[in-house]
Amino acid sequence: MSETATGSTDAESAGTKRTTSGATIQLEDLTKHYPGNPSPAVDSVSMDIKAGETVIFVGPSGCGKSTTLKMINRLIEPSSGRIRINDEDVTDIDPVKLRRKIGYAIQSSGLFPHMTVAENIALVPKMVGWSKSKVKDRVEEMLDLVGLDPREFHGRYPRALSGGQQQRVGVARALAADPPVLLMDEPFGAVDPITRDHLQDELIRLQHELHKTIVFVTHDFDEAIKLGDRIAVLRERSHIAQFDTPEAILTNPTDDFVSGFVGAGAALKRLNLTRVRDVEMAAFPTVTVDDPLQSIFNKLRSGPHNELLMLDRRNRPYKWLRRGDLMRARGSLARAGQLVHDTVTRDATLHDALEAVLTDSGGRAAVTGRRGEFIGVVDMQTLMNSVHELLEADRLAAIEHQHDLEEMRSQQTEAELEGGPGA
Ligand SMILES: Nc1ncnc2c1ncn2[C@@H]1O[C@H](COP(=O)(O)OP(=O)(O)O)[C@@H](O)[C@H]1O
Ligand SMILES: [Mg+2]
Repeated sequence: MSETATGSTDAESAGTKRTTSGATIQLEDLTKHYPGNPSPAVDSVSMDIKAGETVIFVGPSGCGKSTTLKMINRLIEPSSGRIRINDEDVTDIDPVKLRRKIGYAIQSSGLFPHMTVAENIALVPKMVGWSKSKVKDRVEEMLDLVGLDPREFHGRYPRALSGGQQQRVGVARALAADPPVLLMDEPFGAVDPITRDHLQDELIRLQHELHKTIVFVTHDFDEAIKLGDRIAVLRERSHIAQFDTPEAILTNPTDDFVSGFVGAGAALKRLNLTRVRDVEMAAFPTVTVDDPLQSIFNKLRSGPHNELLMLDRRNRPYKWLRRGDLMRARGSLARAGQLVHDTVTRDATLHDALEAVLTDSGGRAAVTGRRGEFIGVVDMQTLMNSVHELLEADRLAAIEHQHDLEEMRSQQTEAELEGGPGA
């Protein structure tokens, strides 16, 4: 079964152009003691989440991620502490009412097996008293939004869907009543890696349109980096080891626990955070289809390269030409060289560029601008150089950061020794 999005991705045509954006969430000393357990599962977590941001809770299994998340919609009652949503203290309001304002999606999709897809999605809108026709429209709209054809999926039962499709319906249901807040607990944990990748992309696209406040739990740091505006790395009892942007956590992990999580593969992760436009591209000789054969020949012979790139009339990469190709061309280039079949854009990640370079028989990839025009070439050497440089820069930034911290501390100590401002 295909996981490809079939629905419209255009906010206007899907009728989802709405102003609702997320709400702020504040957790204040939130604590959970499970009965019979001497130490708390979650110990005094405080955290400010901004309206419209995606915050990821990441941490080892059992550290209290799910417990913390479920306290936000009071599926689990906190033992102490407060929860504020848009500055309203919701710690003591009716949890059922609260949950209608908060979408919730979980790993196994949580769909009711005896209800059709449409009935599952309609659940909360019906409960909050929407009219029949409004609910009906909303179901269609939601299916469309998560990339499922309403006509095809409307009347199906969950068991007749693939894992990925069930997750999509789960997300559609969570969003159906247009809640400002969406809580997601390892929602893509049970699907295969390729489907997971698709679903992650879809979530990014959705969030681009909807600007909900999303709190997303995962134990997968790569998923956290991909999806998070900010990541809270949690250690045991949900103690926050670090709460910052993906870049800051990658480049300045606060301690060994966090670096352990960032861990091996830092170079590979860096590839996902850097765009082709940020690297220095190799110089590469070009000619155009209108250049006379002789001048092309001269260029190849005189330069240090044994290859050049032929551009079409609109400056787009067209063919790779090697010396040997010209020798065999005998007066016409019509059949000479190798057509460029894969290019990367300036906005592609280095990861994408590496992929293109690795699968290209010549070990290089042409980089193009917005209208497909040629900008430069990346090859293994340029990629390696830039990754080395980036990692070195990260390392220096980390040292500098450490240095700043030490300086601050020593200044503080000095001030204390001098007896403060009154002395
Ligand atoms: N209903 C429960 N009753 C008792 N202990 C629980 C319950 N749910 C979770 N725990 C315990 O609380 C801790 C945190 O669990 P959880 O929040 O599920 O962690 P995570 O989602 O990070 O894996 C674990 O030690 C777990 O065994
Ligand atoms: Mg969990």
